[in-house]
Amino acid sequence: MKPVIRPGMPSDAAAVARLQGHLFPDRWSVADVKAQMSLPKAVLEVAYLADSSSDLCGYALGQVAVDEVELRSIGVHPDAQNRRLGRALLKAWEIHAKSLGANRVVLEVAENNAPARALYEAHGFQKVGHRPGYYRTGRGAAIDAFILERVLID
Ligand SMILES: CC(C)(COP(=O)(O)OP(=O)(O)OC[C@H]1O[C@@H](n2cnc3c(N)ncnc32)[C@H](O)[C@@H]1OP(=O)(O)O)[C@@H](O)C(=O)NCCC(=O)NCCS
Repeated sequence: MKPVIRPGMPSDAAAVARLQGHLFPDRWSVADVKAQMSLPKAVLEVAYLADSSSDLCGYALGQVAVDEVELRSIGVHPDAQNRRLGRALLKAWEIHAKSLGANRVVLEVAENNAPARALYEAHGFQKVGHRPGYYRTGRGAAIDAFILERVLID
């Protein structure tokens, strides 16, 4: 079934928190997601399977500040990964951010996150920064972060 991608609404917050917590070790509560959604020029796109009773299968969340938008989190449910949903979500999210004044996207990605790095590379992001040892694993190992950027052209 083809997913439907649309701007997020307050009623999506619980589902976004559930999927974020499934994908990342630093879990966000529903209140965390609601707080991020209510920031000025917050940008949230969500993906559901066409059957609206089914669970959220993806989201992208960030915030526009002046002419730049930061992608804070993007996630696709493991059952829906590798079917170009991440790419489609990122595209919809960028169009949304552009409508709020963004002409540049910045994000941070862990050096060892191969799927995310592949998604961003396929989408035209360039490396503009490197933060050695920025992340820590549960076992305390240090992992580098890369800062990536993409100019949003018409
Ligand atoms: C990163 C993530 C959002 C990608 O979503 P996805 O729907 O699986 O990605 P897509 O199917 O749109 O793939 C986009 C590109 O990345 C590549 N890619 C995706 N998963 C990959 C993997 N496991 N290994 C290598 N390449 C991969 C694809 O080949 C594709 O390139 P193509 O379109 O030229 O074929 C998803 O893996 C995810 O939710 N991961 C966990 C959360 C996370 O790490 N988020 C990013 C934090 S910075």
